Amino acid sequence: MREWAGFLYLSLGDPPPPFAPDPGPDLLDAWPMAGLVRGHREAIEVACNWKVFWENFNECLHCPSVHPALVRRVPIYGRGIMSAAEAPEWEPGTPEPPALDAGSRSWTVSGRACGPEFPGLSAAQRAAGHHFVTIYPGHFAVAHVDYIRSVTVEPLAPERTRLTVDWLFAPEAMADPGFDLEDAVGFARTVLEEDAAACEMNQRGLRSGRAPRGRLMPQEFDIARFHAWVEARMGSDG
Ligand SMILES: [Fe+2]
Repeated sequence: MREWAGFLYLSLGDPPPPFAPDPGPDLLDAWPMAGLVRGHREAIEVACNWKVFWENFNECLHCPSVHPALVRRVPIYGRGIMSAAEAPEWEPGTPEPPALDAGSRSWTVSGRACGPEFPGLSAAQRAAGHHFVTIYPGHFAVAHVDYIRSVTVEPLAPERTRLTVDWLFAPEAMADPGFDLEDAVGFARTVLEEDAAACEMNQRGLRSGRAPRGRLMPQEFDIARFHAWVEARMGSDG
C-alpha cells in the first residue's frame, strides 16, 4: 500500500509495480492536500474497456467535436491539442500563455473560482488553469486554483468501466457564503458524460471487422506512451 497526496494505492502485485505519478510525484506539493475534504462524489458506468477510457483521456483530437463548453474554457483544446507547446508555430523557450479563456479562473460553469483560491500556488500554477497527474492503471487527479478533482478508473468487465469522481475542497472554501458546489460539479460532469459517450462509440467501433487496427497520429503521442505502458506489463505476446 502506498499513500500519496492523501490518496491510498493498493497493489496485489508481489513485488508491486513502481509507483510513478506522471508527470511527477511533486505535482500537487503546492496544494493543501492533507486538509481537503470531499465536497461531492459521483460515479458513472461506461460501456467500454478501461483501456479505451485511457486512450480517450490521452488525446484531445476529439475535443473540438465532443466538448463545446470545455473548448470555450480552454481555447487550445479547440485546436485538438493539449497545450500551446504542441502547436506547429510554437518556439521552444516561449512562456505558455494562460490556458483558460480571458477572465476565467477555473474549470467551472461560470469560469469563476467556486470559493477562495488556494493560497500557496505560484502565478504560473494559477495561469496554467489545470494540472493533470496520472497514476496508471486506476487513478488521475486534476488540480485547479480552487478544487481538486479525483477520478478512479475501475474495470468491471471487458466492456464495462466505472468512473468515480470526487471533488475535493478546502473546508473554509465550502464554508464561504459564496461557495458554489454545482458550478464545479456541473462543468466536470458535462465533460465526463461527453467523454463517456465518445468512449462507448470507440468501443462499438472496435467490434467492426472493417477496421482491424488503427494508426496513431502525431497528436496521439500520449496514447503511444500508454500503449507502451500496457505492453510492458502484458509481455510481447499480448
Ligand atoms: Fe475528452
